[in-house]
Amino acid sequence: MQCDAWDSLVENPVLNTSSRKGGVYAPSKKPDKFHEIEYSENSRIGTGNSEVDSVLGGGIVPGSLVLLAGDPGIGKSTLVLQLAGDISKNKKVLYVSGEESAAQVKLRGGRIKDLNTDFEFMATTDVDEVLSHTHGGNYDLIIVDSIQTMSSQSLSGAAGTTSQVTNNTNSLVRAAKDTNTAFIIIGHVTKEGNVAGPRLMEHLVDTVLYLEGERYGLLKMLRSVKNRFGATNEVGMLEMTEMGLKAVSNPSEALLMERQELPGSVIFVGMEGTRPILVEVQALVSPSVFGYPKRVADGFDLNRLGLLCAVMQKRGGVNLSTQDVYVNIVGGIKLAEPAIDLAIILAIASASSGKIINPGAVVFGEVGLSGEIRSVNMSNLRLQEAKKLGFNKAIVPASIKGINYYGAKTIADAIKNLK
Ligand code: TYD
Ligand code: MG
Repeated sequence: MQCDAWDSLVENPVLNTSSRKGGVYAPSKKPDKFHEIEYSENSRIGTGNSEVDSVLGGGIVPGSLVLLAGDPGIGKSTLVLQLAGDISKNKKVLYVSGEESAAQVKLRGGRIKDLNTDFEFMATTDVDEVLSHTHGGNYDLIIVDSIQTMSSQSLSGAAGTTSQVTNNTNSLVRAAKDTNTAFIIIGHVTKEGNVAGPRLMEHLVDTVLYLEGERYGLLKMLRSVKNRFGATNEVGMLEMTEMGLKAVSNPSEALLMERQELPGSVIFVGMEGTRPILVEVQALVSPSVFGYPKRVADGFDLNRLGLLCAVMQKRGGVNLSTQDVYVNIVGGIKLAEPAIDLAIILAIASASSGKIINPGAVVFGEVGLSGEIRSVNMSNLRLQEAKKLGFNKAIVPASIKGINYYGAKTIADAIKNLK
């Protein structure tokens, strides 16, 4: 083991092997017949928030562990407080906070309109205390805010260290399975992917949700990156309001509400999990001041933007070598799927030529290095969603046929036919 580094000492608890003398010991549990195991989908615990339910795959599974991770200040405590309220309408819920005192949580609760307060609360950082309350299956759900503040006296090291976080998570997993108590555990993410961060816990828990968004932006996305009981990559949209987080049932509408029909604005149909979502892509092109053209991207990969600008220059006949290019995805959303390429290119082309793109048109398509436009997955779902929201034109890969769809083979082709 390398020394001279913080937190490099790892505790390896010694297993009690005295009962295994001779290598074999008497069984303490009888295996069940698989078909006799009782389980029904109806036993899932509804959270009272349609977006959270759909991300979880229909509610919380009893006896499961959900890790809710996210940057500090994003709204994790607010969300679990609301869930505690809603779930306690018909289940027994305990909210444990190691971060805030009872009075502080009460104060936060006061901001949330109509918060149901039938749940129980405890301020502690002692994980053994929390575990003692699982005895006899007293609660259907226990919320732990946050795992980084919890410590066990039987382990050395302060709260938040690798050994505390992993061992305490393991203890909670065991308690959850033994007593059929569901847990929601909050974990902080640090920029450097901290050793004691949620990354370490991902394989220990059943479900991992990330709450994402701009810290001061209003729209937040709840994303499932692991789910033993549902689809991964599902996304729910929530809005931070004066009265806590609210489910946004139609995110496309919310994202397009303030759209201006100006050059440089394009509507892209993206996929978030299995759900199509319409987002405005904006571009601004202005002459470079210092000869070296700047590329700035918000919500989109900067390297990819550089590449797309080069493809436009070489294959699309748009000269950007003396132009600064700024691209912004509206609503503080981050998009990474290749289908957005064509939308970015047309937004830049529109901004640079001053031509407005037909306001009733949507755009999607992946762009290759030779300027060819490639087909993307789930095109039909994307087009259906666009139609539902009143868009009747589309600039899309040539493989898609339909009235009012402009099927473009190359970016030069798409740029010529901006309208
Ligand atoms: P918080 O839930 O404490 O974030 P986390 O637990 O992830 O660190 O707080 C999120 C922010 O939300 C905080 O800056 C205050 C704000 N907020 C509202 O805008 N409206 C509300 O009703 C509440 C309770 C908080
Ligand atoms: Mg918090």
